[in-house]
Amino acid sequence: MMTNPGNSGGAPTGSWPVRLIKRVRNWVYKTAVFVLNAFFLRNRRWYYPGFYGTDAPGVLLLKNLLAPQRLLTKLAYGRWGGLPPRLSRATPLPSGAKPREWEEAGPYVERLRADGVLFLPGRFAAAAGIIAEKYKARAFPLSDAYWRTMIDPGDDPRILGVITDGLLISIIARYYGSQPFLRNLPHLTVAHPSVTRKEAERKPSDFALCWHYDTVNLVDVHMLVSPVTPEGTRMQYARSSHRRHHAFLGGTHYGDYNPSHAYVSDHYEIIDLCGPPGTAVIVDSNGLHRMEPVKGAFRAEIITSYSPGNSILPTEGFVATSTDNYAVHPNASARTGFDTTGLGALQRRVLEKVAPGSPS
Ligand SMILES: [Fe+2]
Repeated sequence: MMTNPGNSGGAPTGSWPVRLIKRVRNWVYKTAVFVLNAFFLRNRRWYYPGFYGTDAPGVLLLKNLLAPQRLLTKLAYGRWGGLPPRLSRATPLPSGAKPREWEEAGPYVERLRADGVLFLPGRFAAAAGIIAEKYKARAFPLSDAYWRTMIDPGDDPRILGVITDGLLISIIARYYGSQPFLRNLPHLTVAHPSVTRKEAERKPSDFALCWHYDTVNLVDVHMLVSPVTPEGTRMQYARSSHRRHHAFLGGTHYGDYNPSHAYVSDHYEIIDLCGPPGTAVIVDSNGLHRMEPVKGAFRAEIITSYSPGNSILPTEGFVATSTDNYAVHPNASARTGFDTTGLGALQRRVLEKVAPGSPS
C-alpha cells in the first residue's frame, strides 16, 4: 500500500498568488522529474535498469523538498522533528496505569528503533492454532493472488486479545511516543502461490513482489498462523531501511517508487520474516519490504496495522464475507462495542477509531 505524493493534476485553483505558487511548484516538480529520469536515475552504478528507487540521501532530500507530503505527515504526528504529542496531531498517552508489560517493552522498542523489525517468537502460540482451525486457514487453495479475509475482533476473544495485547501495544505506544490506533480491522492473509516468482513477475500480480514502503507512520503486526521458513513463502524486510525518509516523485508507473532487488541487497541486510506459528513480527512499514512467493509453499498470518492517527481506513465500506466457518467481517460501526473487560485505557483506546461503539 502506498501513498500517492499528490502530484499536480489539472489547473491550479485558489487566489492568484496561490495559483502562481502552485504553477511554479508544478514547473519545478516536472523539471526535476524530467532531469532525474533523463540523467541521474539512469546511472547504473547506483541504480538498476527498470527500477529507479534509491535511498541515496541527496536524492531523498531533493525528493522530500519536491514531494513533502510524507515528511509533513511525519512532522504532524511527531514522527519527525520532535514535536511532543500535545503540540502535534498525535494523541497523548493516557495518564494513569499502563499495561503491566510497559517496562518489559523498553528493550524491544530499542530494537525496533534500530532495525525497523522485531520478532516476538511464540508470543501467541496457543491462539495461532485455534485461529488457524476456526478460520480454516489451510482450506485456501493454490492461487496467484493473496486470499484476504477481514476478521471482526468481536467475533473471537483470541483475535481481540492479539490486537490489544499489553506487550504489543506498549511497544508500539512507546515507539510512537503517543497513543496508537488500529488503522483497520485485522485480516487473515493467506498466500499459497501457484506460481514461482519469475512466473508471477511476468504479469500484473497481486503479490507485493517489488521492494516498497507503505503509507507513512504505520506499524504492522504480522502474527504467523502457519509455520514460516526461510525456504518458503515469506515476507522480507531490509534491516534499518525505515530510518530513511522515503519519498517518490512518481511519473509514469511510479517510476522511482521501487528500488531493485540488486540495489536493496547491495545496501541492506535482508531479513526473512519467519518463525513458528504464533510468532508476532512487528514492522515499521516505512522500511523497505516485499513478498517472496515460493510455488506451493503455504503461509497464513493475521495482519494488523496501527497508526498514530493518520490514514485510518473506514470500516463502513467493508461487506461481510461470511460463509460458514470462514472469517466474518460484519460492519464494525454497527456494533455496540467489543468486550474490553480487563483492558486498561491505552489498550481500549486502540480500538476507538475502527469501532466507535467501544467504550474508551
Ligand atoms: Fe507493503
